[in-house]
Amino acid sequence: MKYDFDRVVPRKNTNCMKWDDTDAIFGTKDIVPMWVADMDLPIAKPITDAIRERTEHEIYGYPIQKPLSVIKAVIDRMQRLYGWKVRPEWVLLLPGIIPALYTTVKAFSCPGNEVILQGPVYHPFWSAIEDNGCHVSNNQLILKNSTYEIDFEDLVGKFNNRENSLYTPSHPKLMLLCSPHNPVGRVWTVEELRRTGEIVIGNGAIVVADEVHSELLFHNAKHTPFSTLSEEFEQHSITCISPSKAFNLPGLYTSAIIIPSAGLRKRFLDAKKNFVPKVNVFGLIAMEAAYRYSDEWLEQLMAYLHDNLEFLLDYFKRKIPKIAVIKPQGTYLVWLDCRKMGLSPATLQKFMIENAKVGLYEGSLFGPSGAGFVRMNIACPRLLLVEALKRIECAVNNMRN
Ligand SMILES: Cc1ncc(COP(=O)(O)O)c(C=O)c1O
Repeated sequence: MKYDFDRVVPRKNTNCMKWDDTDAIFGTKDIVPMWVADMDLPIAKPITDAIRERTEHEIYGYPIQKPLSVIKAVIDRMQRLYGWKVRPEWVLLLPGIIPALYTTVKAFSCPGNEVILQGPVYHPFWSAIEDNGCHVSNNQLILKNSTYEIDFEDLVGKFNNRENSLYTPSHPKLMLLCSPHNPVGRVWTVEELRRTGEIVIGNGAIVVADEVHSELLFHNAKHTPFSTLSEEFEQHSITCISPSKAFNLPGLYTSAIIIPSAGLRKRFLDAKKNFVPKVNVFGLIAMEAAYRYSDEWLEQLMAYLHDNLEFLLDYFKRKIPKIAVIKPQGTYLVWLDCRKMGLSPATLQKFMIENAKVGLYEGSLFGPSGAGFVRMNIACPRLLLVEALKRIECAVNNMRN
């Protein structure tokens, strides 16, 4: 079937964070919201059909936490997309990826330990580390020729013995890897992932690969699950996936956490006990329908997002040259370099809210190197994207200098 992504589905007054919380977040209702990562686009029909069918049962009691057909849908998808043979016992279902990030830090680090991330990065990576009493060890990405790269020399340095220094934390035991990367849009190459793993795992730490954006790929970008690179990587990593981004189901809170090592799995399960809530009945139904029956929708979605991205790239180039676009290889999030505007993070945010009337994530939320940037979600009907771009154009081009 053909999906119409140009159709605007009104979301106001649906208890929707993106549209109904703008007052609390931005202090105004008069804003085009392009911030939080969900899509203003209708989901695949096989998913709505499956949910509708389940609602007719009339009883929504506690579901089992390892429904075989859902686990099988995850396994089949990994096999089909990547040739990865995942075993049923490796798969745990959680209500989202954020709880998995918190659980891994709790399970594999002690308060005071350093945990590696690569800023600028999705802000809950920072809070998962800090809220567990650990310290962020920021292997900051390098911006080179309008694209972000991993600083491998710095990554090696994270494991250098510091026993002789005043500050003597134990070596990091954990790295949170965002692959594909939110907000810079990189889809890491096999070579980059391999080098990362060799350094981190070679130094006795494990990698948590948050691969929630793995099915949102532009052009010829190819996602490789970190775990599939070698048996050693598989045994020393945790993979977090979910249909929540690619199939637009974040409000159904269901993710799959794949932990091949029995030892790591036990520690993860112990840490999660009485700490992470269970998954819900509709999330399970949606996950299975997304992974099994919704590829036709996903293909059309990516074509639409691709056109949105090309439109945006052209628009900034021609009409808002003061802002440089970091072209994403994946995700539907676009990282905009506003440093030429010469505004502090707080003033940039104020400018986008008050002058442009567009709700964006201000870049320093993702770490100090995000200062001067903003993140824009382009998963919306073209009409909305055009409206937001016009507002930004008008505000930027009316700046005094
Ligand atoms: C990298 C990344 N991880 C996790 C999440 C959130 O996942 P969930 O809603 O399943 O907790 C997001 C949401 O934007 C994300 O970008």
